[in-house]
Amino acid sequence: MKGKKVDEIIRLQDITKHFPWKKRKYVKAVDGVSLSINKRDIFGLAGESGSGKTTLGRVILRLIDPTSGIIFYEGADITNIKMEKEMDLRRKMQIVFQDPYSSLHPRKKIKDIIGRGLKTHHLIENERELVEKAEEFLNLVGMGVEHLYRYPHELSGGQRQRVAIARALILNPGFVVLDEPTSSLDVSVQAEVLNLLKNLRENLDLTYLFITHDLSLARVFTEKMAVMYLGKMTEYGDTEDIFKNPMHPYTKALLSVTPQLDPKRKTKKIILKGEIPSPIDPPVGCGFHTRCIEKIGRICEEGFPQSKEMEKGHFVACHLYS
Ligand SMILES: Nc1ncnc2c1ncn2[C@@H]1O[C@H](COP(=O)(O)OP(=O)(O)O)[C@@H](O)[C@H]1O
Ligand SMILES: [Mg+2]
Repeated sequence: MKGKKVDEIIRLQDITKHFPWKKRKYVKAVDGVSLSINKRDIFGLAGESGSGKTTLGRVILRLIDPTSGIIFYEGADITNIKMEKEMDLRRKMQIVFQDPYSSLHPRKKIKDIIGRGLKTHHLIENERELVEKAEEFLNLVGMGVEHLYRYPHELSGGQRQRVAIARALILNPGFVVLDEPTSSLDVSVQAEVLNLLKNLRENLDLTYLFITHDLSLARVFTEKMAVMYLGKMTEYGDTEDIFKNPMHPYTKALLSVTPQLDPKRKTKKIILKGEIPSPIDPPVGCGFHTRCIEKIGRICEEGFPQSKEMEKGHFVACHLYS
């Protein structure tokens, strides 16, 4: 692809999502995130539970409105459009949820679960076409036609997640949010599903936003990634650069407890003290300063660190580098 213009599919400009909370308080689930995702990327969104990953995914898909900020899809501002009216955009952006047990309708047959979107979007004319398409996409995710008339409870966790993937892909989307798609599966099944997703990306020209709390998955599956902490993006860049040269103390701590692919490389484990603070009253200054072992002083408690490009395409928001 050298010399060719890389096409951007998603751009976020200073996105915040603050949920109202009791009297005049807000949960600052996402707080000033800017990033861009290119076509055919597998972009990872990593960070501990509660850091705002799912909320950001839902904002991008316009399942919820952002509090402020701008969302672009293929260069067009989609922040204020009415999704009910934008059928084509709804079709182009799909999601696979974490839990295949609750995301599939328990009383619907697999063919109807997979084919539902085809009906909504008027992409088929009759039952025969629905069954044909459902069969094609079941095969694509590595399942046989014998499953067409079964119900979700008759399938294993891995099979259910394949059905959820087929349901998303049957609409020929451009962009798919994968929200911890393998975290409820056994490790061996996890690897199979990730392999399937990787092959489908190649064959169908897809772009993924892959949400995970597990950095070892981000490492094997993603090409670019962002690390989030308390709704803010702390580090962002090529996955390889981040793993080779993690710069933010939070990323360093997360990586230090992630199993190493290269056993020769020994890093000291950094155990983060305490729980992640509440996003209702996040620490002032850098949100991470209460747990940071490299805190340099008052500046960390007072000023929010701006994101800075430290090497090409590798951004870090930390006072150590300002
Ligand atoms: N609808 C909501 N109302 C209030 N708070 C919410 C809502 N959805 C998420 N949150 C809060 O926002 C924060 C980020 O949540 P989430 O995006 O689910 O994080 P993650 O996916 O990284 O685990 C959490 O503190 C969560 O409790
Ligand atoms: Mg989540």
